[in-house]
Amino acid sequence: QAAEKGGYEHFMIKEIHEQPKAIKDTMTSRIMSDSDEIVLDDIKLTKEDLDNINKVFIVACGTAYHAGMVGKYVIEKLARIPVEVDIASEFRYRNPIMDEKTLLIVVSQSGETADTLAALREAKKAGARVMAVTNVVGSSVAREADDVFYTWAGPEIAVASTKAYTTQLIAMYILALYLGRLNGKLSVEEFRTIRDEMLVLPEKVEKLIQNKEELQKFADKNHMHRDMFYIGRGLDGSVSLEGALKLKEISYIHAEAYPAGELKHGPIALIDQDIPVIALATQEELFEKMVSNIKEVVTRGAKVISFALEGNTDIEQVSDQVVYMPRTISILTPILSVIPLQLLSYYVAVIRGCDVDKPKNLAKSVTVE
Ligand code: G6P
Repeated sequence: QAAEKGGYEHFMIKEIHEQPKAIKDTMTSRIMSDSDEIVLDDIKLTKEDLDNINKVFIVACGTAYHAGMVGKYVIEKLARIPVEVDIASEFRYRNPIMDEKTLLIVVSQSGETADTLAALREAKKAGARVMAVTNVVGSSVAREADDVFYTWAGPEIAVASTKAYTTQLIAMYILALYLGRLNGKLSVEEFRTIRDEMLVLPEKVEKLIQNKEELQKFADKNHMHRDMFYIGRGLDGSVSLEGALKLKEISYIHAEAYPAGELKHGPIALIDQDIPVIALATQEELFEKMVSNIKEVVTRGAKVISFALEGNTDIEQVSDQVVYMPRTISILTPILSVIPLQLLSYYVAVIRGCDVDKPKNLAKSVTVE
């Protein structure tokens, strides 16, 4: 196993470092700098099929569900098709409205999660078209779906998902671009802006990973807390959920993620000097609103570590520590902002002496319902 870890102490940190390559591999041959077309070999969905679809469901569990939340946002934004995201174990039991005008996208690293597979089968029974986004070639969801999108993350060993998540996000962006171009809702100019920004993401991710000392410093100071809060608005809210999940899974610290504007409707009652708050403020149009939300927790004594884009230095006035990220367009920030959150969870878990790669009570793939 030591050899498989390639010199790293744990699979998780190795897999965090593999993300620039995994992201690049997932984009290769699908998005090209000199082409206005997305090439998806295993997707047979035609323009005619798409014109017939009036509703998309994204169904998944755990980290894949968090990727689905970003998927909803980007598919609605770029392809203007209504999307609902569902937790697979809930989906079947709420009698979802599906027919041949429905596209159901399942997202699953392993492709074997029982609840996700059951949702896929339910959708097929109802006549829906089914697409699988998975990391495992020939997995059950890949075999049973009409269309397949493989994330090329390579094998993921650590129970806590890292590179599978970032490549699932890339899959969501590529699909949104593809659908938006196919139905004509996305202009070629906007397509090019997003394409060009996506192609430089691997270097930006690399830069963030190199910046790991900052997160180590935070972990040194904050690994003894019982609770932590993660707050964000819009896409930052979805990434906050993933950040909090990572911390819970491997460090056993109670972490709660909340849409920042919703704090005052309850959870702010819990905030005091013993609860560090991780604030994501990468969405330009929501930046000022986030700064006010951060002030609300600072007033209650919270210590805040903020994540913002380079140049947005106003945030320093309301934060104890700021981690800056390379600039990109707002819809792509999840790919960048999750990296320091993964590192933060990793270092906190290591300092606490936890079994990082094999956390208690968790399995890599859950094949029972
Ligand atoms: C388990 C894993 C999670 C994963 C989830 C869904 O709970 O511990 O890391 O996100 O299953 O797995 P899947 O293979 O369907 O993405």
